[in-house]
Amino acid sequence: MTKALFLTLSKGGDELVDVEFRAATAADADAVHALSTPFMADGSLVPRTRETYASAVEEFFVLDIEGQIVACAGAARDGSWAEVYNFAVHEKWHGHGLGHVLLASLIMALHAEKVEEVVLFSSTTVRWFERHGFERMDESELPAGRIERIDRERGSVPLRRRTLRGYDAPDVLGRMKGLRVRFERSGAEFAWDGDFDSLLQFTDHHGIETDSRCWAGACGTCRTRLKKGTVHYHTEPGADLAGGEVLLCTAQPVTDLVLDL
Ligand code: FES
Repeated sequence: MTKALFLTLSKGGDELVDVEFRAATAADADAVHALSTPFMADGSLVPRTRETYASAVEEFFVLDIEGQIVACAGAARDGSWAEVYNFAVHEKWHGHGLGHVLLASLIMALHAEKVEEVVLFSSTTVRWFERHGFERMDESELPAGRIERIDRERGSVPLRRRTLRGYDAPDVLGRMKGLRVRFERSGAEFAWDGDFDSLLQFTDHHGIETDSRCWAGACGTCRTRLKKGTVHYHTEPGADLAGGEVLLCTAQPVTDLVLDL
C-alpha cells in the first residue's frame, strides 16, 4: 500500500515536500534499523537487533521523502487487533508534524485491512498518543499471550484506540484538533478544530481578507506565505508555488501555523 501525501513544511526553504506513506519492504530493513537506533540508545524504543528488523520489516510502514526514510512504525496484526510499536520520526524532522502524518496514515491503512483496534505501549509519549485519541487500558484486556510478554521494567502504559471508519488519511489529518492558526498581519489567532475543509474556508469564516477565485487549487490567487508550521493538501496543488507559499483553498494544518495575512 502506498499513498502520496503533499505537505509544505516551514523548513528547508518552505518548499512543497512530497511524502510517500508506504509499507516497508525487505530493502528498507537497514534504514528502519538506522532510524530507530538513536531512540534505542535513549531508552524510548525497545532495543532490537538489525536481524530483528530484517525479519519483521514487512510489519512496518514508513514515510519516505525523496528516497529517505524519515519515520517508521511497526504494526503486528492479529485479526481485528494490531499492536503498533517502534514508532519513530528522524530527529532532523522533529517538530514538523510528521508524527501526526504517520499515525493518521497508519490508522487508516490498518482500518483498510479491517483492523478495528490499535494497541500500543508507551513510556515517554503517553500524552502525545492521548492527544491522538488513544486511551489508557487495563492490561487484563490484552490477549493472554501478550500479557505474559510485558516488560515490567520499562514501566510502559498500554493504550488503545479504535480505527476510524469512512475517512481516508488526509481527512484524518484534516480533523486534527487543538491547533492554533495565527494571522500575523491581522494580529488575530483562532483555534483549528478540524471543522473546515480548507484554510480558505477557515479564513473566510473568521473574516480574514484573502484573494480567491477558484477555491479548487487551480488559479493560484489564494497563495499565502507560510511563516511557520506544516500544512498538507487534499490533492497535489495545481498552481505553481514559490518557496514559502501555500494554497489556502486546498490546504489544512498539521501543526500550529503562522500565516502572512
Ligand atoms: S482560490 Fe484558486 S488556487 Fe486557491
